[in-house]
Amino acid sequence: MSEEIISDVLVIGTGIAGATLAWKAAEQGLKVAVLTKGEKLHENNTYYAQGGIVSLGEDDSPELLARDIIKAGGGINNLEAVKVISEEGPKIVEEFLIKKLKVPFESENGKFKFGKEAAHSKRRILYVGDQTGKAIMELLERAVVSHPNIKVYTGHTAVDLITNTHHSTNPQEIYRKPICMGAYVLDRYTGEIKRFFARFTALATGGLGRIYLHTTNPPGARGDGFAMASRAGARVIHMEYIQFHPTSLFHRDADGFLISEAVRGEGAKLLTRNGEPFMYKYAPQGELAPRDVVSRAIYEEMHRRGDSYVLLDLASYAKFDIPSRFPGIYKKCKELGIDITREPIPVVPAAHYTIGGVFVDTWGRSSLDRLYAVGEISCTGVHGANRLASTSLLEGLTWGWRAAIDMASKDEDALPFHEIPPWIRPKREVKVDPALIVQDWVNIKHTMWNYAGIIRTKRRLGRALSDLEYLHKRIEEFYRTARVNDEIIGLRNGIVSALLVVKAAIRNEKSLGAHFIKVEENGEL
Ligand code: FAD
Ligand code: SIN
Repeated sequence: MSEEIISDVLVIGTGIAGATLAWKAAEQGLKVAVLTKGEKLHENNTYYAQGGIVSLGEDDSPELLARDIIKAGGGINNLEAVKVISEEGPKIVEEFLIKKLKVPFESENGKFKFGKEAAHSKRRILYVGDQTGKAIMELLERAVVSHPNIKVYTGHTAVDLITNTHHSTNPQEIYRKPICMGAYVLDRYTGEIKRFFARFTALATGGLGRIYLHTTNPPGARGDGFAMASRAGARVIHMEYIQFHPTSLFHRDADGFLISEAVRGEGAKLLTRNGEPFMYKYAPQGELAPRDVVSRAIYEEMHRRGDSYVLLDLASYAKFDIPSRFPGIYKKCKELGIDITREPIPVVPAAHYTIGGVFVDTWGRSSLDRLYAVGEISCTGVHGANRLASTSLLEGLTWGWRAAIDMASKDEDALPFHEIPPWIRPKREVKVDPALIVQDWVNIKHTMWNYAGIIRTKRRLGRALSDLEYLHKRIEEFYRTARVNDEIIGLRNGIVSALLVVKAAIRNEKSLGAHFIKVEENGEL
């Protein structure tokens, strides 16, 4: 009999969203099981966040913040969610990050310093050098690990959500309302698949940048949550809106290392390889135009000139000490032989943030009963068609907090966990051949980058769909007979996430924000 763990709340993922939810739920007396596939809690996107977290600057207001969010988002934002993030978000930053966790945001003479990034009308970003995510995550990790109501499971990969309608042995359950009851989870250390049951389950599994060839995201961001949610029948929306960050470091050993938008916020200019500025041709705001505009401008310039990168010149414009304002970027570039105090930085756009996801209301509740989604996996509608810089940490924090409050306010019926059987393994398990996994990933990443990337066409998307559908069939067959491990779980989820993006992009013929469909020469979309 496989192990079963029962708690009030199951949180899958330990970035800012999952860790905040876990802590806040535990503070209200709920028993929480929190799991991450990483060996450490901080193996996630949150840890790598550079620019900072949005709050309210001087002469600022929730209304001004909301206006900037909606402008960047192309006007299709969920207005209710925008109101929540701009009114509630800064209060939670104050109460939790500043007062409780004591995150050491930069300050001078007792006043916070505020950073600036593209498309913000005010300086309003709290930061810790260029390693804000690391500073927040380390403190969050400590708070979660030491909380008596939280049990942490590292090295545990959720395989699938459990629902009564999919998994119950009781034939009557198929006629009832679908309810999420927890998850089947692989213990990566023992290979066992356990059942985690909970009154409330929260997906906090982050984004899917790694399904693209070039990305700023660390290896774990392969879209597990989108695939699990869609298999369980939760509504997943806006998947065509993938945000490309304009400036990742162009270097063979950089692995998508981000050059923060704050660098442009502090005055750096984009240049072609032979030193000509070009952003003025594309947008009146120049380097500080919304990300989608800057990414496409770089892409167009690179294609027009046959270049594989453009330059970002901070050295000529900085009126401050570069190594102390951007210590992480300075160090990383120096290691790779680039001295950013003297020379421009070679940069290219890269997949950065998943705007769409599991649709949730302003309390993080998905369309599947008892399933919540928080952070990058979710789509609250805050970002509309394009995310305003540094709002995602704030969104993860706000929704993690609110989901926990909602859970604690509920007095739900007990669930029939005893009707859920242990995981069924294939009769003849085949050991996974790593070469097959590597090659399938190469196919997914290249297809997504070339056919469903910064600039899409209907023809490219059609090609992506047929190639990915074929691959999906093969991977699913492979998975059905495999001895399940983290790699095959990731591949199976990666292909499903890629298909979610491509299908959504095909359905939406209107270019807006991060989804751009180019009309081909013959006038075809
Ligand atoms: P994550 O922090 O990515 O955490 C996801 C968690 O889910 C991880 O713990 C992972 O192990 C776990 N997980 C995933 N799948 C499974 C599974 N199957 N089973 C178990 N566990 C699983 N945003 C800002 O607002 N400001 C910034 O300055 C900023 N800078 C950024 C810089 C970089 C380089 C990157 C990549 C992103 C940046 N962002 C920034 C975006 C922001 O960091 C993310 O959107 C945010 O951190 C996501 O938080 P999260 O909690 O939703 O997910
Ligand atoms: C950055 O520092 O450029 C990242 C900010 C973000 O993704 O919001």
